[in-house]
Amino acid sequence: MKRGIEPTTVERKMREDDFIVSKTNAKGIITYGNPIFIEFSGYSEAELLGSQHNIIRHPDMPRAAFKLAWDTIQSGREFFAYVKNMAKDGSYYWVFTHITPDFDANRQIVGYTSVRRCPKAQAVKAIEPVYQQMLAAERAAGARDAIAAGTSVLVDLLQQTGMSYEELVFSL
Ligand SMILES: Cc1cc2nc3c(=O)[nH]c(=O)nc-3n(C[C@H](O)[C@H](O)[C@H](O)COP(=O)(O)O)c2cc1C
Repeated sequence: MKRGIEPTTVERKMREDDFIVSKTNAKGIITYGNPIFIEFSGYSEAELLGSQHNIIRHPDMPRAAFKLAWDTIQSGREFFAYVKNMAKDGSYYWVFTHITPDFDANRQIVGYTSVRRCPKAQAVKAIEPVYQQMLAAERAAGARDAIAAGTSVLVDLLQQTGMSYEELVFSL
């Protein structure tokens, strides 16, 4: 549905006390969005519900970031990240997201919940060039090897800093 949307340089900023909440089924199909999620996405609730969550994916985001997200949450763990999203009108908005799995009584994953808060400006400034490097490596590697190439940029950075991914995110 978002195919054809041109990203613009218009930024929408989250307010300090905003929480953008969405829920998906186990496959990433949106099953719920709070009013602020709907507002920031620029889509109607009817357009969002039943759509893949990549409907708001921004082309500046490296694929390896989402691979790490899915690997983490599918293994039952929580995931934190700074994410650049794209609204229906092509504008962008940065969020600090926390995604958690939803379990049933048998501990099977039945879906996921994401709560996003206003990101720290300095953190966005710090992570943006990392994502740019990951994206450049992904583009240079070509579609088949993109995720491996993007991941390796991140892994190299973690090795240089001696931090885990989570430590890096919380150090920003
Ligand atoms: C609960 C939940 C929330 C998500 N929130 C976002 C989001 O805000 N922005 C985004 O681009 N992807 C989000 N994703 C990841 C998307 O499902 C998708 O993996 C990503 O947009 C990359 O698209 P692709 O898998 O088609 O490459 C979320 C996934 C889940 C399970």
